[in-house]
Amino acid sequence: MKVIRTKSYEEMSRVAADVIGAQIIMKNDCLLGLATGTTPLGTYAELASRCAAGELDFSKVRTVNLDEYKGLAPDHVQSYRYFMDKHLFDLVNIDKANTRVPDGLAEDSAAMGLAYDEYIESVGGIDLQLLGIGHDGHIGFNEPDDCFTGPTHLVDLTEMTIDANSRLFESRDEVPRQAVTMGMKSIMQAKKILMVVNGEEKKEILKAALYGEITPQVPASLIQLHPDVTVVTDIEDI
Ligand code: PGA
Repeated sequence: MKVIRTKSYEEMSRVAADVIGAQIIMKNDCLLGLATGTTPLGTYAELASRCAAGELDFSKVRTVNLDEYKGLAPDHVQSYRYFMDKHLFDLVNIDKANTRVPDGLAEDSAAMGLAYDEYIESVGGIDLQLLGIGHDGHIGFNEPDDCFTGPTHLVDLTEMTIDANSRLFESRDEVPRQAVTMGMKSIMQAKKILMVVNGEEKKEILKAALYGEITPQVPASLIQLHPDVTVVTDIEDI
């Protein structure tokens, strides 16, 4: 595992964009696993400006996102499909037909999840998976649990996640209580993992994930077992 410590959020975002940009240059039709949340916003802005400057070409890039709220339509302003369009896909020369986000409206989430995982396998797996980390140690929406779940699946969000995400909604009541998330299988089978973490308030959970016990109670701890992880963080003393 490689931990890159940066002096600021901006530098963290530039370094993360360097890693993703290198992946795209090495393999122009790579499959990127992407994340939502506040943390990767700077990374996406960097990628967009590098694409506008002609330094990066997304025309053959394919993407799969980690998760989506259950019950939100793609055009809902809080949906992760909307987030990705707004913060990355509409700003780069990607073919939207090559971008996938789990379907939050699927009646049968298990069947949708199976098809999602089959798609990932059918194109050779994820080349690079971008991850954030939740305050409770989740990656994607894999919440603390008694066991790790492999396939893309439906989850109940923890109270901590609902609290954390309520800042983005008009009220806490509006935060969906469930989501569909890529499971640990596709994440751990990614050839490379890039985790971005910013802010002192994530320090303890990041330490637990990187150096603590490997346990489904801290889902991010599983990445200790992955052979190619880069963590980029502006947190000191990690
Ligand atoms: P955040 O979310 O970047 O908004 O803190 C991270 C996550 O929940 O994975």
